[in-house]
Amino acid sequence: MKLDDVSADLEEVLLTEDQIHERLAELSRQIEKDYEGETPLLVGVLKGAVMVMADLAKELRMPIEMDWMAVSSYGSGTQSSGVVRILKDLDTDLIGRRVLIVEDIIDSGLTLSWLLANLRSRGAKSVDILALLRKPDAAKVDVEVKYVGFEIPSRFVVGYGLDYAERYRNLRGVAVLAPHVYA
Ligand code: PRP
Repeated sequence: MKLDDVSADLEEVLLTEDQIHERLAELSRQIEKDYEGETPLLVGVLKGAVMVMADLAKELRMPIEMDWMAVSSYGSGTQSSGVVRILKDLDTDLIGRRVLIVEDIIDSGLTLSWLLANLRSRGAKSVDILALLRKPDAAKVDVEVKYVGFEIPSRFVVGYGLDYAERYRNLRGVAVLAPHVYA
């Protein structure tokens, strides 16, 4: 779905498809250098990371493996609580592996900080994070993110994996949702 297809639902476009792909290409060149001669395991966090994982994986000019986790933050409403439950675990043994967690967005940082500790405890050689988007204003915990696509303001954004009530994930860009949609 293109941004134009739902323009009435969007207040402001933050990132177009081209901008995202260009940035993923830059990050891919960096990743190729950092993991030269190795086969990193990319771990996508469902469901938001599906788009970034697919485009990043296609852009990378090196062998990789992919695996997926689904986690759920306990807590009320839309806020992460930091208490995380695994809904779907990895199929891959992490011992000795170099792992790159792939996320769509880091907001409070609570999910990723938990995930980082969890995956590190499984004997991986290294665990790093790539997040397409980061909301620096919203950070409750400091998480080291090795590869950041874009810093964005703390507004309600949808698209490119990010949803509102499960909709807009298939939008090709990232945009601020118009308040009338959720009012
Ligand atoms: C989003 C996003 C991260 C998390 C970030 O997932 O994909 O996993 O929230 O928030 P935090 O930094 O405040 O912890 P969500 O729980 O909305 O699930 P989804 O990916 O299935 O939409």
